[in-house]
Amino acid sequence: AIERTFSIVKPDAVSKNKIGAIYSRFEEAGLKVIAAKMLHLTQEQAEGFYAEHSERPFFGALVEFMTSGPIMVQVLEGENAVLAHRDILGATNPAEAADGTIRADFANSIDENAAHGSDSIESAAREVAYFFSPEELCPRTR
Ligand code: CMP
Repeated sequence: AIERTFSIVKPDAVSKNKIGAIYSRFEEAGLKVIAAKMLHLTQEQAEGFYAEHSERPFFGALVEFMTSGPIMVQVLEGENAVLAHRDILGATNPAEAADGTIRADFANSIDENAAHGSDSIESAAREVAYFFSPEELCPRTR
């Protein structure tokens, strides 16, 4: 089925000037960008986005990193988009990410891991709504 998923190019990848390289991976995988913007998250925005991780030991470092510089947030649409996006991202820890994946090629570490992708349809809907209003989504008609 055609799905939508939420995606972040994280501060490490923006800093390395890899926005376009990562968008190319999305396009090569058949995922279409239907909304996108650059943001520099506040602490409150980052804490809210990652609220499900608030009790994890890495939460403080995660929020600090995600507010350390600008990010790109985007909505991707395509066949089986949630899993297709996660496949091209590779494992959360780049040391475990398969060759040719975004994290294998662009990530520094499990903390500075280049990109985020929603882990389910339900997460995707929540994450898209956290950053985009419905009017900001531009579904492709051609
Ligand atoms: P992300 O998909 O953005 O969701 C939460 C982030 O926490 C994850 O990517 C990692 O960058 C970061 N993180 C740091 N340590 C861990 C860990 N042990 N397990 C999962 N995520 C971690």
